[in-house]
Amino acid sequence: MERNIKFYGGEDIPLELHKVKVVQKLHLVPIERRLQALYEGGFNTFKLDTKDVFLDMLTDSGTNAMSDRQLGAMMIADDAYAGSQSFVRYHKAVEDVLGKKYLLPAHQGRAAENILAKAYVKEGSVILMNYHFTTALAHITQYGGKIEELLYDEAYVINSKHPFKGNMNLEKLEESINRNGVENIPYIRMEASTNLIGGQPFSMENLRGVRKIADKYGIKIVMDASLLGENAWLIKQREEELKNSSMGEIIKMMTGLCDIVYFSARKLSSSRGGGICTNDESVVRELEPLVPLFEGFLTYGGMSVREIESIAVGLYETLDEDMICQSPKFIEYLVNAFVQKGVPVVTPAGVLGCHVDAMEICSHIPQTQYPAGSLAAAYFLVSGVRGMERGSLSNQRDEYGNETYADMELLRLAIPRRVFTLSQIKYVEDRMVWLYENRELIGGLKFVYEPSVLRFFMGKLEPTSDWPEKLLAKFRKDFGDSL
Ligand code: F0G
Repeated sequence: MERNIKFYGGEDIPLELHKVKVVQKLHLVPIERRLQALYEGGFNTFKLDTKDVFLDMLTDSGTNAMSDRQLGAMMIADDAYAGSQSFVRYHKAVEDVLGKKYLLPAHQGRAAENILAKAYVKEGSVILMNYHFTTALAHITQYGGKIEELLYDEAYVINSKHPFKGNMNLEKLEESINRNGVENIPYIRMEASTNLIGGQPFSMENLRGVRKIADKYGIKIVMDASLLGENAWLIKQREEELKNSSMGEIIKMMTGLCDIVYFSARKLSSSRGGGICTNDESVVRELEPLVPLFEGFLTYGGMSVREIESIAVGLYETLDEDMICQSPKFIEYLVNAFVQKGVPVVTPAGVLGCHVDAMEICSHIPQTQYPAGSLAAAYFLVSGVRGMERGSLSNQRDEYGNETYADMELLRLAIPRRVFTLSQIKYVEDRMVWLYENRELIGGLKFVYEPSVLRFFMGKLEPTSDWPEKLLAKFRKDFGDSL
């Protein structure tokens, strides 16, 4: 049945199907303070303090709203080093929702990536994938592996109507297997809702195609299921054959096509923590010894039992379309608003957040000066809204120490599940439209401190000129004494 709610007036509004029970007060500090905060944080939005942030759109990771049921479950957590009943409930939820018999806990998504890479990646390994995620890549290269990203050309087209830009390019996949040699490919990695190219899903048809090739060559498929719920929901919306299937059926079909499924529970299940699951006992034997070594005992894996309870409940809630559709619908609303006002964004609307095209908006800033990082800083300055750079700053240098430039320079404005209201989304739109009209005032950034690993987290930068002061002056001219 169609679940859209139509307004008599015809306006397309993503009506919230939840109510607010607990609130947190927010502060919008004046633009002068925001400028100071930028200097203190090295023009890196990761280094801002939330006391200076109005709407935190850095990420959905661990910031999705939790349900009353999740919070309730946390109260019945069973504290035990081994054999905790909280883990039993987590395990049951994984079997019921993800259809996998064995579960290895990990304290978050990248911990699962570490275990997988440690077990399977060695010098000379090549991991074929639809697209990388920063932490997945860092762990693979840490153990001497390389990656190949095998998307269709459409994936790199910012303004597109393609419903499944996260699809693996099947021709390239087969070519790459033959070129690299099966023996060098420990697994194929499929990322559900490919994060760094705008939260774009893959289709079930595509995953079936990947499975066929994987079977032909005897290679495992590992799915990064951190954004599985939204990918499944978009399959239901966009893949004709599955429009009448339930979320549960689609999710199990997806996980059933993969040998190993891992996830960040900070995303999937709106909680914290993570896990790796499989139906293959030999995989468990290979990975299991690494869990007590890096994470903790096999029934808690570095997580508190309270978190584990909230994952269990959150996994079941992922099956609820009214919950899972909230973030993608708000994203679509914001994307449509931007498109109408001429602000360039990744289309079609994906998941996790709205992805603004910094390469286009800051076309006057060379990639050597990090246009997406500059836009993230400028947008925080004029709005108090904290987004995340997803461009060359988030890339890592190659093995020779050279800069590698990102395929896309994006400012990601994350819309965590059930956190923001529609008037807040309208504010986000308003300030971005103003910034777009004043885009020539945005200037570049340069590193003053560049860490060697995952540099975007802790790196410090400074503006290449006094552009932030000029942008502030224009803001005051246009907005007067408004916050
Ligand atoms: N895989 C994907 C697709 C992710 O988006 C993330 C995290 C991870 C793995 C790592 O999980 O943070 O629990 O260790 N993404 C966050 C983000 C950080 O903001 O997109 P983690």
